[in-house]
Formats: sequence, structure tokens, C-alpha cells
Amino acid sequence: MLSIVILISGRGSNMEAILKARLPLDIRAVIANRPDAGGLQTAAAAGCATEVVDHTLFSSRDAFDNALAARIDHHRPDLIVLAGFMRILGRAFIERYPNKILNIHPSLLPAFPGLHTHRQALEAGVRIHGATVHIVTPELDAGPILAQVAVPVAADDDEDSLGARVLRQEHVIYPAVLRRLAENVTSIGETGVVLRGARRVEQLDASGEKLISL
Ligand code: GRF
Repeated sequence: MLSIVILISGRGSNMEAILKARLPLDIRAVIANRPDAGGLQTAAAAGCATEVVDHTLFSSRDAFDNALAARIDHHRPDLIVLAGFMRILGRAFIERYPNKILNIHPSLLPAFPGLHTHRQALEAGVRIHGATVHIVTPELDAGPILAQVAVPVAADDDEDSLGARVLRQEHVIYPAVLRRLAENVTSIGETGVVLRGARRVEQLDASGEKLISL
């Protein structure tokens, strides 16, 4: 069974959607970088092991990344699932787990990377917004895209109303991607993902040209 560790920073509603989907996944731990992350209680109530690696206790980004990696490695997960994890991870951390870190971003990447995506979308005047599940590479919000969901922008939307509409779809798309992986991946090695019934999927590269076919 595919094993994962979920990383959160706050309320953890995407994590909760993943837990509620009852996926055939071995969820080894939920780790937060903030002790007050609300999602920790949700995870514990659902019977998940929880841990905190408090970023404020480390003097540098690298020191935090190393401590986080040590906790993740203890669990030996196949995949690391970022679900509202709001710390930027350093290149060394990301390169330690090639093609093994997934993230959900609340926009249709490559549009609107970074923060305040709903504000960016409203300011740009787009009529269609959405969310993206992608593989994490060292370039922020630029890794290979696994799945996207489109969400219409209403004429009277503000950041909150648009964000809420996108979030509802995030809660659908992230579990869906993980289900596809959980049901189809037979192994994950240094060079990529092996899907059931398929010959070895080629190594995912940063260009996104060679991609897991979901
Ligand atoms: C979500 O919109 C996610 O896409 C973004 O941060 C938000 C986290 O929400 N990265 P939650 O903690 O999953 O409720």
C-alpha cells in the first residue's frame, strides 16, 4: 500500500478531505510546522499520528528543513503530501525527495503562483479560476501538473467567496489524485513512479513533459 506523510500549517481542511475519503493509503503521520495548527486536532481525532516541527525554533531555513526531513525519513513514506503547508522548502530538501512531494495550489497554474491567488485572479479579471495538484520542484509552484479543476468567477465575487468556491473543489481534486495514485502505483523508486499494468513510467522531469498519466 502506498504510504504518505501529510504536511500542514493551519486548519488542514485539505488534509481532512483526504482523511475522510478513506483512501487505500497508509497515512503514517501528519506533521505541522506550527504547534497551533488546527488540523493537528482534526488529524488526532481521526486516529492519525501527529507531530510538530516548529519552524520558529530553528535559526535557519536549512536547519528547519533538516529537522523536518529527519522526521519524515523516520516514517519512510512513498509520498510527501503538502496540504496547506505554508513554508517554502529549500532546494536541498526538495531534491532529497525527487518526484515524491505533491502540493495543491489554489489557482490554475502557471497562472497566479505564490500567495493571495484569489486576489490575483480578481485583479486580473479572469472569468475562470481554479486549483492545481502538482509535483513539487525547487521552482515555486512550477512543478509538473497532475490535475486541475476549473472554478467560475462570479461578477460579485470577493476574495472570500471565490476562495471558498475554489476550496470546495480542492477537497474533491486532491483526494481524487491520491486515489488514482493509491490504486495504480505499484512502487515508487528513485527514478519515478511505477503504475499498475503499465511499463515503468518515465522519470518525471522539471519540464513536466514526462508525467504520470493520471
Ligand atoms: C488551500 O487553499 C491550499 O490550496 C493552500 O492553502 C490552503 C490551505 O487550506 N495551499 P487548508 O489548511 O487545507 O484548509
